[in-house]
Amino acid sequence: MDTAIREVVILGGGTAGWMAAAYLQKVFEGTVQVTLLEAATIPRIGVGEATVPNLQRVFFDRLGIPEDEWMRECNAAFKTAVKFVNWRKKEPGVPDNHFYHAFGLIPNVDNIPLSHYWVLRNEGRATTDEQVDYACYREPPMMDAKLAPRFRDGQPAVNYAWHFDAQLVADYLRRLSTGWGVKHVVDELASVEKTPEGHIKALHTRGGRVLAGDLFVDCSGFRGLLINQAMEEPFLDMSDHLLCNSAVATAIEHDDARFGIEPYTSAIASKHGWMWKIPMLGRFGTGYVYSSDFCSQDEAIREFSAKWGLDPEKTAFNRIRFRVGRNRRAWVKNCVSIGLASCFVEPLESTGIYFITASIYQLAKHFPDKGFNPVLVDRFNREIEMMFDDTRDFLQAHFLTSSRDDTAFWLANKNDLKISDALKDKLETWKAGLTVNMPVSGEEAYYGNFETEFRNFWTNSSYYCVLSGMGWMPEQPLTTLKYRPSSVAHAEEAFQRVKLQQQALLRDLPTNHEFLQRLHRKN
Ligand code: FDA
Repeated sequence: MDTAIREVVILGGGTAGWMAAAYLQKVFEGTVQVTLLEAATIPRIGVGEATVPNLQRVFFDRLGIPEDEWMRECNAAFKTAVKFVNWRKKEPGVPDNHFYHAFGLIPNVDNIPLSHYWVLRNEGRATTDEQVDYACYREPPMMDAKLAPRFRDGQPAVNYAWHFDAQLVADYLRRLSTGWGVKHVVDELASVEKTPEGHIKALHTRGGRVLAGDLFVDCSGFRGLLINQAMEEPFLDMSDHLLCNSAVATAIEHDDARFGIEPYTSAIASKHGWMWKIPMLGRFGTGYVYSSDFCSQDEAIREFSAKWGLDPEKTAFNRIRFRVGRNRRAWVKNCVSIGLASCFVEPLESTGIYFITASIYQLAKHFPDKGFNPVLVDRFNREIEMMFDDTRDFLQAHFLTSSRDDTAFWLANKNDLKISDALKDKLETWKAGLTVNMPVSGEEAYYGNFETEFRNFWTNSSYYCVLSGMGWMPEQPLTTLKYRPSSVAHAEEAFQRVKLQQQALLRDLPTNHEFLQRLHRKN
């Protein structure tokens, strides 16, 4: 008897549905037949335009799609960091403050990250001479100069991810997947048929189709039609950890030739939340993520329009209400949820598509047969829980440590948040000058093996960029450095090396505008 899963049915044709369809069809070499059901009448969420670097290695490389090929199909641009603007309290008469959260790892000196020598350098000073991002990373000056992260010959110069048009990505993956044999059904789900044991047997559509399967993947978005509604798995609301629950979004034309193209996502702190800016060729996507407890949609639209000089009457806004949290279990019986149907935190660190990528990877790794071994299901669920909760905590650390206190929203972020024990522990570790989440490998191994990256996604480097960027310094330098004068001397040489690398990048890299125009053959 054939016990292998042969029929996989995916509900939903957003980024999650099409990424899952393409991956399972391709990676399992046609041994499973994937069918995807999507309703033409129910639109995709239509946002989700900034990513993290593993998208190429963990997803597109497995599909055999070179970077430049999908970039051209999706109007993709480069993202070398998230630039946080005005997350520190604004001083009167002082221009906007900012820091970068770059990708990659801060270099080690004698097995201690350079960030710790940077704290020592700044000990006892009221303000730091140079922020940690500018002192320890190669990228900030090239980002200020709006340069591309790749050399003219296409070779990568630094770590980077991408910005793209979310609709184009889903459409591109649909074309790829159907070309590889995925069956595409355009119809609306009407009801779910279950077996006496509570497994899903088939999806029934309004058009009268019956889609039977062995495994069902819920990519239906925030409604969680299969996992939350049919399987009745509870969604754990975490709005007491993260206060934002709404967004308004639009796209704005941009004069690239005049202003250049920023090679980073911006996260601009605002009165009741923050605004994203995601540049691509000819336009940028932008949205205001806010908390409806502190600001009405009309107020948000007014503040957002004023920021970009938009006429609120004439601008088309995507108005979004989102849920924050995760399903108690992402996988129940023969139903696995991926994308917004599974879990969501606001897009401050662009984690939505990363969660999808990681969930697909974990599903393929724990892929069952018809016996649905509960250990496979349980271990998958543990991975998703860890991935989500760790990210929720890292995002919360941004709000918690920001020095802004100018509105009720920012005060509530200081006083009213529920904080997990894991985050309390990390913040204590940080204050004592110790390393938070020290990576167990160097940068190449970290990025080269997704298992390593997944298990330690927000490293010491991330915590240093963000916490010190917010103006939140450890209470003391790492004490062991008092006894290591030669390491401290080596660190000074490392700081000098970073400066030389910064100068070399400024000298050798093309502008982001020039590179993208050439890639997209616009000149
Ligand atoms: P999505 O809602 O797009 O798709 C649902 C699908 O289900 C649709 O195809 C619909 O037709 C189908 N469907 C629903 N009901 C149905 C029915 N009854 N019958 C048949 N089909 C049905 N992520 C990121 O990585 N970077 C970012 O910058 C952002 N930014 C961002 C901003 C904001 C405000 C939000 C809310 C989210 C983000 N995200 C993000 C997250 C990102 O948008 C999200 O992870 C992806 O778009 C995936 O969305 P889904 O495919 O899960 O749902």
